[in-house]
Amino acid sequence: MKRLISIGLTAALSVAMAHAAEPPQKSPEDLAKSAIETRQGLFKVMSAVFGPVGGMMRNQVPFDAAVAEKAGNRLVALGGIAPELFTNDTRKFTSIKTTALDGIWNSQADFKAKADDLVKAATELATVAKTGDKAATIKAAGAVGKACGSCHDSYRVKN
Ligand code: HEC
Repeated sequence: MKRLISIGLTAALSVAMAHAAEPPQKSPEDLAKSAIETRQGLFKVMSAVFGPVGGMMRNQVPFDAAVAEKAGNRLVALGGIAPELFTNDTRKFTSIKTTALDGIWNSQADFKAKADDLVKAATELATVAKTGDKAATIKAAGAVGKACGSCHDSYRVKN
């Protein structure tokens, strides 16, 4: 049995190694498409994470400080990732669907600053929600929403 497992492992390893040795198959266009899908996925996740907090702001769901705190902490991490997912300058691949504006790559420092603003607002949301203070948490959540909107105003196609 042990021997069988080790044969299995060796086979799996050699498949993995053969895979790693393959030359890259992806064209610049494939890479751009994948980069765009990845960053859109990040924003979809942000939206899913912030959704319940938005519901609390609109009084559609009962206030839950723990949910707001968790959302704040998650948005700290997600906001920090955003600029990294724009290192692939996809401007010239105009046939791929994206609502990202060219300005992102013309003013990368400002784009990063807008992501930092989200991280700061999300940090504040998590900190305030931890105290359980509803009014202060809703206010901090509003600032998170503003940070999302401020970046969209500058760097996302308006719909
Ligand atoms: C630093 C800038 C920035 C911040 C901050 C930001 N966004 Fe965005 N967001 C963008 C850009 C740019 C796009 C367009 C991405 C694309 O299409 O390539 C986008 C797209 C989206 C999308 C559409 C994704 C899709 O399906 O294609 C959603 C939803 C979204 N953002 C939600 C949020 C939420 C919620 C927040 C705050 C918690 C947020 N964003 C914060 C820049 C930002």
